[in-house]
Amino acid sequence: MLRKEQSDLLTLTGPGTAMGAMFRRYWIPALLADELPENDCPPVRVRLLSEKLIAFRDTQGRYGLIDEFCAHRGVSLWFGRNEDCGLRCPYHGWKYDVTGQCVEIPSEPEKSGFRAMIKLRSYPLVARGGVLWTYMGPAEHRPALPEYEFATVPAAQSYMSKRLQYCNWLQAMEGGIDSSHVSWLHRDALRSDPLMTGSRGNQYNMGDAAPVFQVAEHAAGLFIGARRNAEDGRHYWRITPWCMPSFTMIAPRGNHAVHGHFWIPLDDGNCWAWSFDYHPTRALSEAELAAMREGKGIHAKTIPGTFIPVANRDNDYLMDREGQKAGRTYSGVAGIAMQDASLQESMGPIVDRTREHLLSTDNGIIMARQTLMRAVRALQDGEAPPGIDPATHRVRSAAVVLPAGVAFAEAAREALMVRPGVGHATV
Ligand code: FES
Ligand SMILES: [Fe+2]
Repeated sequence: MLRKEQSDLLTLTGPGTAMGAMFRRYWIPALLADELPENDCPPVRVRLLSEKLIAFRDTQGRYGLIDEFCAHRGVSLWFGRNEDCGLRCPYHGWKYDVTGQCVEIPSEPEKSGFRAMIKLRSYPLVARGGVLWTYMGPAEHRPALPEYEFATVPAAQSYMSKRLQYCNWLQAMEGGIDSSHVSWLHRDALRSDPLMTGSRGNQYNMGDAAPVFQVAEHAAGLFIGARRNAEDGRHYWRITPWCMPSFTMIAPRGNHAVHGHFWIPLDDGNCWAWSFDYHPTRALSEAELAAMREGKGIHAKTIPGTFIPVANRDNDYLMDREGQKAGRTYSGVAGIAMQDASLQESMGPIVDRTREHLLSTDNGIIMARQTLMRAVRALQDGEAPPGIDPATHRVRSAAVVLPAGVAFAEAAREALMVRPGVGHATV
């Protein structure tokens, strides 16, 4: 349970908020690289941390992320003409480069000096691992680029998708670090999803629906371990790293690709669910890629030309009551992504955390909230938050069977760090 002011502190990320200031100290995913597929392609509206922005790629391939609205009289530059190294407002022809600098005002003599004084707010936009990342914080605190493993492996080894989710980022992220719901909500996926089936771990997952949670700290955040019974008194551990502020990685299953998420606020009531899959040592197969594009695993099928899921709140997520009754799905909603999103959206845009009743399986969530609150307060006192240094991003999820009585973070220490050329620890 949180007090209202604690919940506000964690959930609100617009300009001028404490958590917003914290998000603005990290590189965050802004667009899929293929949303800006070529030079001078159409500009794209981007909503991030309650700011309305326009992304574009100029004639020389430079990326820009600038204020959506023209400095003249506020027209949306989504209507802009992307031409000759700049985005030109079609109303009266003012033109901006990728840094937001106004480079042309056709009606104004250049010698007046007026044009040079016009500059839109702008943020860097950098391609890495199939993602265009932005940094929206103070220039003097801009860190080196992120090094999450999915973004550093060869392109053939990873796949990224994103979808719009109609709820606050924290609610979505708390689902991502809550391994206990898998044995319930996603039990059909463990039996039938081509990106999940066939691992021994699935049997442990299904065989013990009362996991014990232990949480350990690392430099960028937490390792959240969910312990279930295996044979001979041993324990099956699913270990989820969470990196500040909103990166999570799901524990692997067999030799399947490994998946995870970023939960990035559009505004306070909506977030981007970024979903990646990658394999550290091999290319993804055609069959795997086809399944990911089809919305299997943690991905979702979206309405073409949008990032809105096909199954969404307007059609009750295509609820299948018969399938629910017959056990084809546990909740009646198909697919892991929308099973999660449907329930998280049902909680309202920002769930009332003063009314919840947490217990020990929520320990990961409780500790993540505490870590976030501590970091937000420290930042207000001028202390940089954890997880900014890219060296701290090189963590992995793991699924391991360990003897009883050991501390997972010690026993699986190597498995929880990126080891180039070595696969994930998985059963
Ligand atoms: S509003 Fe953009 S040029 Fe006038
Ligand atoms: Fe889930």
